[in-house]
Amino acid sequence: MKRRLRSGMSASLLAVAACVALHAPHSLAARDAQSILKETCQGCHTPEADNALSRISHQRKTPEGWLMSIARMQTMHGLQISDDDRRTLVKYLADSQGLAPSETDGVRYALERRLNTVEQFDEKTSQMCGRCHSGARVALQRRPAQEWERLVNFHLGQWPSLEYQALARDRDWFDIARKDMVPLLAKRYPLDNPAWQKWLKSAPKAEALVGDWSFSGHLPGKGELAGIMSVTADGNDTFKVSVKGQYADGSPFNGDGSAILYSGYEWRGNVTVDGVTMRQVFAAQGSAMQGRMFEAEHDERGLDFVAAKQGSQRLLAVQPGYVKAGSETEVTLIGSGLSGKPDFGKGVEVVEVLEQNAERIKVKVKAAGNAQPGVRAVSVGSLKGPSLSVYNAITAVKVVPEFSVARIGEGGGSTPKVQGRFDAEAWGKGADGKPYRIGVFPAQWKVEAFDERAKEDEDVKFAGTMQADAGVFTPGDAGPNPARKMSTNNAGNLKVIAAVDDAGKSLTGEGHLIVTVQRWNNPPIP
Ligand code: HEC
Ligand code: HEC
Repeated sequence: MKRRLRSGMSASLLAVAACVALHAPHSLAARDAQSILKETCQGCHTPEADNALSRISHQRKTPEGWLMSIARMQTMHGLQISDDDRRTLVKYLADSQGLAPSETDGVRYALERRLNTVEQFDEKTSQMCGRCHSGARVALQRRPAQEWERLVNFHLGQWPSLEYQALARDRDWFDIARKDMVPLLAKRYPLDNPAWQKWLKSAPKAEALVGDWSFSGHLPGKGELAGIMSVTADGNDTFKVSVKGQYADGSPFNGDGSAILYSGYEWRGNVTVDGVTMRQVFAAQGSAMQGRMFEAEHDERGLDFVAAKQGSQRLLAVQPGYVKAGSETEVTLIGSGLSGKPDFGKGVEVVEVLEQNAERIKVKVKAAGNAQPGVRAVSVGSLKGPSLSVYNAITAVKVVPEFSVARIGEGGGSTPKVQGRFDAEAWGKGADGKPYRIGVFPAQWKVEAFDERAKEDEDVKFAGTMQADAGVFTPGDAGPNPARKMSTNNAGNLKVIAAVDDAGKSLTGEGHLIVTVQRWNNPPIP
């Protein structure tokens, strides 16, 4: 069953403030974690053998997960703790009771705040656990059966009305949670997973990340970018970071900030680019870093990010990743340790090398008029990875994301608007008749009423405005609007339409955008 991410129910403003702290290095005067645990947690959490504390010592989770648990201790149980001490604890717990890289695989979208992700969990998990918060929040924890059971008990104790809600009043929620979900969760997400012990032993030292990184990125509604990220050590798994890059349209992407490493690979940075604070949520492993970099105040504005350490050998991206048969175009290869002439496969030849160094190779390529349409592997020496699409004609356009949510905001309130940001993806038909992705194309954008109801309510007029040349939708102001029927707010139900021009022929794609109310509760893990 597919479900969209939704926020939890309890107001947790504290967790939002705390999220800022998660990306900032802790102060040098920090007390050690063991004394903090003793002095601030032990009052309620019973000491056990081997220096363990009840509950706390029997779970593993991400830094965000630990932060949310401690924030709950503050909001719900009256725990008093300083920001510095909390930072120290989150770091300590994420390092000693974190998740291995393989355990976060496939659910990192929640940490990366890709809030339009349509989750894929089995129906039972989605209905039982994924209806108030993301399924990822569950999948990003490891516990033994007893701890999963206590979590179920805590849920019902804390929110007794959950049994009367939809997807619970039609069944015996508590019984199913205890009898079916607990064994399932304990099996699927066990505390004792060898992957974690193995990772603890093999994780590279934080110092291994110090140096220059070649990066490639893509920001929906803006385009591709590339550059160099320089990382210097700042002590205790923290770093100073500076990025110097450029978008494909020539605009700069430069900034400075800091970062901290949790669990040996969970990179959390704060970098100010053009006066705007951006967060980095990356998985850093050896000479590779990958994740998302997004605006702190607008997590919908974010770029997919991949980087390779200088000195390593990796081909990260080809920008742009397509060429039309019978035409010439400039493409740039981004990576690290690049040398030699790139190869684009049959029918595509390099006409001229315009620029070449270890991090980028810019070439002019020509695709033969009879080059076969389809995706071909690109290589430089022995390095492979990205592909180049050759096309004759665009056969379809897809709006990405196909389904998304924007939110009204401001209008006198403190909650910012959440934009919709879209890409127009062109698709072609390969020699084998199968559709293949060509790449992201410039498009003309507009919105239309999704259905009769939306038309009648004039959602297009009220819900916001679409930037015609960029696929960026900015919702309307929050609050009642006297110009609307019954002074309702500026919510709306819209079709997002992208028109891509292919040699004078216009092709359109369609997506669905719901413009809804503010997200009142915005915890680090949705
Ligand atoms: C005032 C009492 C109190 C203090 C102090 C306290 N806790 Fe708790 N803690 C609780 C209660 C009650 C629960 C069970 C209900 C819940 O999960 O919210 C709990 C549960 C937990 C859990 C399990 C949550 C889960 O999802 O299963 C963790 C982890 C935790 N506490 C961590 C801490 C840490 C770390 C500290 C010290 C920084 C701390 N607690 C301090 C009362 C406290
Ligand atoms: C009625 C809505 C609701 C349902 C149903 C629900 N949850 Fe939750 N869950 C919450 C809320 C709200 C929180 C946030 C508590 C907080 O503020 O930390 C939460 C927190 C959590 C956490 C984080 C706890 C921590 O401190 O580490 C986990 C893990 C979790 N839920 C798992 C589950 C599982 C497993 C199920 C299904 C058996 C489930 N949830 C069903 C509302 C729900």
